[in-house]
Amino acid sequence: MPEAYGQETPGTAARFIRTCDDIRHSLEYLAGIGCRGFDCCPGTVRLMDAWGTGSPGRAETLESIRSELGNCRRCKLAETRNHIVFGAGNPDAGLLFVGEGPGYDEDLQGLPFVGAAGQLLTKIIQAIQLRREQVYICNVVKCRPPGNRNPLPDEIGACVPFLKRQIQSIRPAMICALGAFAAQTLLETTEPISSLRGRIFDYMGIKLLATYHPAYLLRNPDQKKAVWEDMKTLMREMG
Ligand code: URA
Repeated sequence: MPEAYGQETPGTAARFIRTCDDIRHSLEYLAGIGCRGFDCCPGTVRLMDAWGTGSPGRAETLESIRSELGNCRRCKLAETRNHIVFGAGNPDAGLLFVGEGPGYDEDLQGLPFVGAAGQLLTKIIQAIQLRREQVYICNVVKCRPPGNRNPLPDEIGACVPFLKRQIQSIRPAMICALGAFAAQTLLETTEPISSLRGRIFDYMGIKLLATYHPAYLLRNPDQKKAVWEDMKTLMREMG
């Protein structure tokens, strides 16, 4: 079960577990950006130099991540997609929204959250006094699962390293995970979104708040109040 701020178990064991987690995240990050060992290549040396300085620097740009993704055929979603939906917005955003995966409209346009759920997300962004161009928006998987089914574990496994690299490139102050799928993937938990939402978690040193997915809100408008409460928490936490 992920820990919310202020609910850590005190003591050495908890610090040890946290240190192990930090090491694991760092190794995952290095693997994600293509590092295959602690060799002395210039890229590795640059990265290790930046460790512990408090400003890890931008290891890579969104453009270079997108270019490495290329005409991705790493999973079977490539067979049915029209467009890869990499993400859109400000590469220096303080706030990053992460959804599940492209739907029908996103697949046609190659842009995230441009359908009905996207219009509601735009309103949510405006309600917190921001514009879409100021934030960054992307998804856990970059290609539309046929019929909007949930992405399968092998599809997530192929795509998540790119999401993690996007997060490290942007290093926002806050990640807003939209819906169960994004929240559970990023937090590596199976806890239901009803218990994850509204809480602030730590994702590799970045604050993460989970809330309901806009598509869920379209089906359950009575939950808009809960999302507004979550957005007030988000604004408070972002300062
Ligand atoms: N739903 C998502 O999770 N992402 C999109 O980009 C669109 C709808």
